[in-house]
Amino acid sequence: RDAVRGHCGVPSYEPVAKIGSILMAKKSYSVTIAGGGSTFTPGIALMLLEEHDRFPVDRVVFYDNNAERQEIVAKACEIYFKENAPDLDFSYTTDPEKAFTGVDFVLAHIRVGLYAMRELDEKIPLKHGVLGQETCGAGGIAYGMRSIGGVFEILDYMEKYSPNAWMLNYSNPAAIVAEACRLLRPNSRIINICDMPIDLMDKMAHMCGIKDRRELQYSYFGLNHFGWFTEIYDKEGNDLMPEIKRHMAKNGYMDGFETAGDKAQHIDESWVHTFGKAKDVYAVDPETIPNTYLKYYLFPDYVVETSNPDYTRANEVMDGREKKVFGACREIIEKGTAKGSDFEADAHATYIVDLACALAENTLERFLLIVPNDGAISNFDPTAMVEVPCIVGKNGYEKICQGQIPQFQKGMMEQQVSVEKLVVQAWAEGSYQKLWQALTLSATIPSAKIAKDVLDDLIEANKGFWPELS
Ligand code: NAD
Ligand code: G6P
Ligand code: MN
Repeated sequence: RDAVRGHCGVPSYEPVAKIGSILMAKKSYSVTIAGGGSTFTPGIALMLLEEHDRFPVDRVVFYDNNAERQEIVAKACEIYFKENAPDLDFSYTTDPEKAFTGVDFVLAHIRVGLYAMRELDEKIPLKHGVLGQETCGAGGIAYGMRSIGGVFEILDYMEKYSPNAWMLNYSNPAAIVAEACRLLRPNSRIINICDMPIDLMDKMAHMCGIKDRRELQYSYFGLNHFGWFTEIYDKEGNDLMPEIKRHMAKNGYMDGFETAGDKAQHIDESWVHTFGKAKDVYAVDPETIPNTYLKYYLFPDYVVETSNPDYTRANEVMDGREKKVFGACREIIEKGTAKGSDFEADAHATYIVDLACALAENTLERFLLIVPNDGAISNFDPTAMVEVPCIVGKNGYEKICQGQIPQFQKGMMEQQVSVEKLVVQAWAEGSYQKLWQALTLSATIPSAKIAKDVLDDLIEANKGFWPELS
């Protein structure tokens, strides 16, 4: 077991890694990337190639329901693969049967409604004086109402054509998607994950002079984009919390940037702002280390004041990441070669391979997953979908109990989990009333009146994406 754990786990353990490669040679995997036209697809596809020694993939299929968008990404990747992995069986399609037959893993990152709808999710609430964000508050609720159906569609195709496959889903808003899975697809082989804590662990490791975040042993509890680290040790078991707390109190997560180098994730101005603001979020409860997203619930007035209602994060991404990725793809297609291109592997996405390895090879590594609580947090709703550390192996995950949580976090989480549950119920029942209640209950919205005004505008904007509400 140690050999396998070393192989898929911390890669610095040289002798063990070699034994691992021999074991791994037994099988190659077939992977479908759903949301083939995503801005993250090239980075993840290249990362799969880079990680080939420990996670051999011999077949990759891109699947999307938007043929034109996907084709740009896929044609460029095809050229890259021909030059760098000529043996790889690569294809792309909009046909579900082709995409989901003979698959071991589905990696899903879809965005129903594309950036055009993200922009409205962010701008409509701001028009009413409340914050607009991709996954939090009114914007996250609107996105959730679009996303549930899209993720189910893919999950159902996977179950029809490859019933033994695993779907690793990071399509947002993960909290709402996960609650929908718990309620409506309870036996599906889907694992919902988020990369925010990974980035935060990278930053905390850097603060402490540790190179590889996988050396950190952590305790964490919360909901997705709504949680707290409670304990962090290094691999010898030394407590790192005092040092991390000192950094947080002074500079939020900013000290974690220093040694992150050019592989740093989330480097746009608005993200840098968020990592700095974590100082104020931390001050609200200096016993724990907060997820960056808590700023939207604890400082919503500040977020509104510092937002530009005419230029939100969606605009920043469309002018930044989307242009960069699609520009690089078009250039590769025009030149007919990927040599000298801007394509690079997404170093942070290696956690996806870690997770796939754990499921394929029973490595029993620790991951933060979004799973049914069912006692993991003893004084919290057993039916809530919570984000807690889990041990992952061939048969899925086992939760690591986090015990009782403090009153402050419990209060916040009870309110927020009720928002998420009401959204899923509203989606399933087509209930206007429940969606209005969900918005009313969000800590980001001050009154039932504003909730209704925002909701009525969102319904108008989401025609054709949301179920009919009555
Ligand atoms: P994007 O718009 O560039 O790509 C999404 C792709 O999904 C598009 O090509 C679109 O056509 C496709 N799509 C939409 N509905 C589909 C459906 N029903 N079936 C198949 N394909 C469909 O978006 P992006 O910025 O690259 O982000 C993709 C997703 O990944 C988003 O949901 C984003 O929030 C999520 N994400 C999550 C995490 C996390 O931590 N969980 C991290 C990064 C990104
Ligand atoms: C983090 C979160 C994701 C979210 C992303 C947004 O990685 O964990 O869930 O989708 O940030 O990033 P963006 O660059 O699109 O604003
Ligand atoms: Mn996330």
